[in-house]
This record gives sequence, C-alpha cells and structure tokens, in this order.
Amino acid sequence: MKILSIETSCDDTGITIFEAKGSITNASFKILADSLASQTKIHIPYGGVFPVLAKREHAKNLPILLEKTLKKAKISNKFFRQGLKNSVDMVAVTYGPGLEMCLWEGITFAKNLAKKWNVPLVPVNHMEGHIISVFGKHKGNFKIPKIKYPFLSLLVSGGHTELILCKKWMEYELIGETVDDAVGEAFDKVARMLGLPYPGGPEISKLAEGLREKQAKKGLRSATARVLSKNSAEFYAYPSKLDFSLKLPRPMLHSKNFDFSFSGLKTAVLYLIRDIEKSGKKIDTKTKAQIALEFENSAIECLVYKTAKAIEKHKINTLLVGGGVAANKHLRKELKKITKNKIKLILPTKELSRDNSIMIGMAGYLNYLKFTRHTNNKNLPEPESIKATGNLRL
Ligand code: KG4
Ligand code: ZN
Repeated sequence: MKILSIETSCDDTGITIFEAKGSITNASFKILADSLASQTKIHIPYGGVFPVLAKREHAKNLPILLEKTLKKAKISNKFFRQGLKNSVDMVAVTYGPGLEMCLWEGITFAKNLAKKWNVPLVPVNHMEGHIISVFGKHKGNFKIPKIKYPFLSLLVSGGHTELILCKKWMEYELIGETVDDAVGEAFDKVARMLGLPYPGGPEISKLAEGLREKQAKKGLRSATARVLSKNSAEFYAYPSKLDFSLKLPRPMLHSKNFDFSFSGLKTAVLYLIRDIEKSGKKIDTKTKAQIALEFENSAIECLVYKTAKAIEKHKINTLLVGGGVAANKHLRKELKKITKNKIKLILPTKELSRDNSIMIGMAGYLNYLKFTRHTNNKNLPEPESIKATGNLRL
C-alpha cells in the first residue's frame, strides 16, 4: 500500500511517501519521495525553538512539501486536487509528544488530506517512530529485520531521555527516564552558556571531540575510556581521576533505578563558568573545549552506565538507540564498547536520528496493521478523535 506520512512535532516539517508491504513483524518499505524542511536557521536568534514561529513555518511548509513530494513520487496533481483511487492508501501523522500547536498543524493538514482522499488516518507516537527509526534508511528499500528479544531502546533527544524495554514487538515498558531536563536540552543549554549557536549538541560535540583527539594523540585517555577498557559495566561505576582540572558531577550515576538527571549537571557548568571568570581567567576557546569535553564525558557516561546496568538486569539481547543525540559520536563509540561481542547494537543513520517523517510512516504502517488486524478497519480511530497530545507516553 502507498503511505503518506507527516511529522510536525517540533521544528522540522517532514512529508514522506512510501510503498509498504508485509506483515507486522516482516514489513518492508520503499521510499518513493521524502521531503524535510528544517527550521533551525529561523530559531537560531532565539537560542531554541520558538513555538509560535515553528507553528507558522509548519503551516507555510506543509502545502509546499506536499506538492513537491507527490510530484517526486510521480503521483498526479489530479489526485492531489480530487483524489483518485489507489494513489495514496493511508495517511499517518504524529499526534504527540511535542509542541501542541505544532502537532495540530500536522494533524489538521493530515485530517483534510485523509478526508479528501477518503483514506484511513493513522495517529503515530513520535517516540515509537524514534524506536523504529533504527530500521530505516533515508532512501531506497529497507525492511524490519528479525531481532532478538528482549530489546532495549535508549531514546535521547531534545525533549526525552528514556529507556524502554520491549519483550514483544510493539509493546513498550518505560523502565527509566530523566527526572528533569532531557539530555539534548542539557547539551543545548550548556552550549548557550558557552556562547555556541543553537542547536548546541553538535557544537559541544565538535569542540569535545577535537580536544579528545588531541589528548588521545598525547597518550592521555579520558576517565571513561580508562574505566571502559576494563570491559565491564561494574568498573564503569568508578570513574577515576580526570586528565584535566575541570571536574563535573555524574548525577544519579549510582541511583538504584534507571532514571537520569541532567539539570544539576547543567547548573554545575554554570557555576564552573562563574568560578573561572571570578578567578580572572577568560573563557577562551581552549577553556570552552575543556568544559565541553568534561560535560560530554559526564552526560554520556550517565547514559551509557545506566544502559549497561539495564542490559545486565533485563538480560537484553538487542540495544536500539534513537533521537537527535543518537548522532553523538562519543555516545555511539561508548555504546559500541559496552555491547561489543555481547549483544547486538542497532544505531540509526545520521539522517534518521533527527526528527523525520520516514520513521512516522514506518510506525504508521505497523500501527495500521495492528489496528486493522482481523477487524476490517473497525479498530482504526475516528479521525475526529485524533488530538494533539503534547505529553503523550508510550
Ligand atoms: O530528536 P531531535 O531531532 O528532536 C527532538 O525530538 O528533540 O533531537 C534534537 C536534539 C537537540 O537537543 C540537539 O542538540 C541534539 O538532539 N543533538 C545532539 C547532537 N546532534 C543533535 N546532541 C549531542 N551531540 C550531537 N551530535
Ligand atoms: Zn524527536
């Protein structure tokens, strides 16, 4: 069947058209056309996503992207205007979590299309999209592979930091989450303190990575690398002395649950900057890089340590990672170390770690199959009942 999917939960407007086939555990996809309009540049002056502006941009982008995507997928303009049978068979749209006013733009647009084309409308949880995103590509054909259960999904983005346990396909159990800020949010806020542009994650990562490489060349290894070299999650718990003088905390590293906290770490950076300035030292590029490195080491260590603990406790066989922070080089490297020769690690491509409508279409198809299984479309939600849900949970 042909699927058109829409994503507008934050500051990226996405529309994808697929050909999808196969069963719920054996689905395969072919991307016919994909368009993504990023609003990053527009939000830079505000140092973060400005919701009213984001909503306005989605409203502006959606019709443009639709026309472009239909054209690329070689679906006639006639269908676009009147609706012709067998051109698009289903519309999928993100209905949460995210910024409600942005979600509504996508939902209203999707409702109108589904009505005009007389096709089912499937609401999709954005976080389920991130979980499934690891199986996708940004072009061509791909399919959901066989995976070994139970699997664990580490979701790390600007709005979420979660550990989700899956014992069965498409059944999710939240076993840990941040008690305050999301990890991506902490990266963005620390970047702002250091005068780096939005979005701060890639900027912090670039600075940190540069210094990490320099230190590695000099033969210095970070505390994380030294601890991990012992190749055991237990050793991971005792970071030894750092190679440089700026020390930041590892919040909740030893808490008995799988929760995270990043707000204290962010405040610790604020105090560190204040103390450096008080001492008369300037926050120059070198100092910024040192702070970025220590912050990244701390944030990633917290994520990796708790993930390692959860893998151990729940006898996990496969680890999936999703969300914007999944693009972080250090996180990817450290996760490879804790899973190597033990369990399978599946990381998303760079294109699919950020928000996109490909993951929404994939999750949309699977949910369509779930809703319609043995019911002749009876279990599909009524389009009128689909509402933007900012704090939607899995
Ligand atoms: O999933 P996403 O595109 O949007 C949300 O749903 O939030 O994630 C965006 C977040 C931002 O906080 C951004 O700074 C962070 O992902 N991010 C990174 C990196 N690339 C993006 N954080 C750390 N390192 C990166 N390389
Ligand atoms: Zn996201």
